[in-house]
Amino acid sequence: MSKNIIITGGAGFIGSHVVRLFVNKYPDYTIINLDALTYAGNLENLKDIDSKPNYKFVKANILDVPAIEKIFDEYHVTDVIHLAAESHVDRSIVSPLDFVYTNVIGTVNLLNVAKTKWAANLSGHRFYHISTDEVYGSLGETGLFTETTPYDPNSPYSASKASSDHFVRAYRETYHMQTVVSNCSNNYGPYHFPEKLIPLFIHNIIQKKPLPVYGDGLYTRDWLYVKDHALAIDLVFHEGKDGETYNIGGFNEWKNIDLVKLLCAQMDQKLGNAKGTSEQLITYIKDRPGHDRRYAIDATKINKELGWKPTVTFEQGLSETIDWFLQNSSWLENVTSGNYQNYYQSMYNNR
Ligand code: NAD
Ligand code: TYD
Repeated sequence: MSKNIIITGGAGFIGSHVVRLFVNKYPDYTIINLDALTYAGNLENLKDIDSKPNYKFVKANILDVPAIEKIFDEYHVTDVIHLAAESHVDRSIVSPLDFVYTNVIGTVNLLNVAKTKWAANLSGHRFYHISTDEVYGSLGETGLFTETTPYDPNSPYSASKASSDHFVRAYRETYHMQTVVSNCSNNYGPYHFPEKLIPLFIHNIIQKKPLPVYGDGLYTRDWLYVKDHALAIDLVFHEGKDGETYNIGGFNEWKNIDLVKLLCAQMDQKLGNAKGTSEQLITYIKDRPGHDRRYAIDATKINKELGWKPTVTFEQGLSETIDWFLQNSSWLENVTSGNYQNYYQSMYNNR
């Protein structure tokens, strides 16, 4: 059946992989990429598919209700996959309100417009909200986040995502909208903006700059290759049960310092450096306030119910990611010129 799907945040890191997958896999769907093109949005991420007839880009902000209404009318929107967000924890610590506006109010705006435009047949339309495992807070040495783990967000970013998840739930319970939510662990891969750990460290190794490890470096994250996340989103969108939540993760926990050492070793090999060269760049710096110690997802439900599991091992995915960054040096140069330099200085100088 043909669909007209808004994908919000389609010019960002994960969104661009989802847009690419849907545009290529579903020629009968019209994919409308709704994105405000903030510092994190980049149309270069989609230049391989932007001339396809089933792809449309609309520059719009999810805080601009009339603009969203116009897009719903113009494209007879049938479904929404909502990824647009402010996504970086460190920025949320500096500017929490930006996260409240986009992540909370922007999500409620989208829900409101969808509810109004789909009022005649609410059950015939799906609102799919993309969220994060960070809403569950921090784990101790053991245990995993399941779909029933209580929400316990610690950063302004995770608090804003938790709030948006609750609004999606409330719109389902109160207005009977057909919603589905997925909460995913840390992604990595091509087009990742170099403010996050892996792309920032790849960039710094190329530039022979210090690798700023926060605190004792023993914080743990569960890493998933972004293309595997996009495949999970495809599955949840088409086969996920109405009203359900699905946790998505890599079954792939790494302490930051171990990950950084693996990254250094792979980079040294690819750059033809002597063993141990990049590790010398590791510099421990002042910790992030409220830093969550450990995230790890139990992805059994999506595995058992929808048959999803990661297809790429971490070593493979990391190697492909490094190759992509080395082969796309102009992409990296473009996104790290201008304002990025100011960001970097304010975040890392004198820390
Ligand atoms: P990103 O920061 O790379 O991209 C966000 C996109 O949203 C950008 O294209 C930006 O221009 C757009 N955007 C921001 N504010 C907007 C606004 N007000 N109106 C319209 N567009 C706006 O983010 P990402 O890492 O690709 O994350 C995408 C989604 O996935 C987010 O909802 C995030 O919470 C979630 N998520 C991310 C990760 C991760 O590891 N990156 C893990 C789990 C969940
Ligand atoms: P990040 O990529 O920002 O993702 P998140 O905070 O959403 O998990 O950070 C991943 C981990 O790496 C986290 O424990 C913080 C740490 N980190 C550093 O040690 N140095 C850095 O420069 C950055 C950006 C992150």
